[in-house]
Amino acid sequence: MQVAVDGPASAGKSTVAKIIAKKLSYVYIDTGAMYRACTVIARNHKLDYGDEAGILQAIDEDGIELKSEHGEQKVYVAGKDVSKEIRTPEISANVSQVSALPKVREKMVSLQRQMAGKTDVIMDGRDIGTTVLPDAEVKIFLVASARSRAERRLLDFKERGIESNQTVDEIEQDIAARDYKDSHRKISPLKKADDAIEIDTTNMSIEQVVDAILAEIEKSQKNF
Ligand code: DC
Repeated sequence: MQVAVDGPASAGKSTVAKIIAKKLSYVYIDTGAMYRACTVIARNHKLDYGDEAGILQAIDEDGIELKSEHGEQKVYVAGKDVSKEIRTPEISANVSQVSALPKVREKMVSLQRQMAGKTDVIMDGRDIGTTVLPDAEVKIFLVASARSRAERRLLDFKERGIESNQTVDEIEQDIAARDYKDSHRKISPLKKADDAIEIDTTNMSIEQVVDAILAEIEKSQKNF
């Protein structure tokens, strides 16, 4: 079973995907974390965020690993845990530029398909249903208003212990800017797959979204 969860920033994709993975014992893959790790690598190597060849070489040198530790996904770059660093405003502000580089995407998509392998998997991102796993049995597209996504991100910062002096208005502007860039890039833009089910989570609790997706998974299993 492959479950693809796509949607814009902070629509709740990773929160619900993690819960579902735990409930069903599926492997969870956060593809956004991989593009964020590429951005950390570019920054560490003092590269321009548009330097495709330089970034590709640096990724090969450093290596990106996703590890599950005590039920949590951790991201390692050059053997160092960067799970917190990848969420800082500096990385968030530059990840759209790095993730728009065609060869960086090619490399990540190939890694993602390799990681999905033949196991039951729930993968979240922007292009999972359209590009990475086009044959996924269940495709979900989560949306929510920019305001509610900004409020969630602020809460998320607090919970992860990430210091941020950004106001909710500033976060909302950042989110809107990133949505625009992610939806308008040439390769694999953020787009709902034709066969994806859209869920607007603005006024839904986490449990309600989880239940809605679980119902879709169950429906798809019955069709087998
Ligand atoms: O889900 P996130 O906010 O952590 O994703 C970070 C960035 O990575 C986002 O701005 C777009 C990009 N991304 C992508 O282009 N394709 C994916 N499959 C996942 C994320």
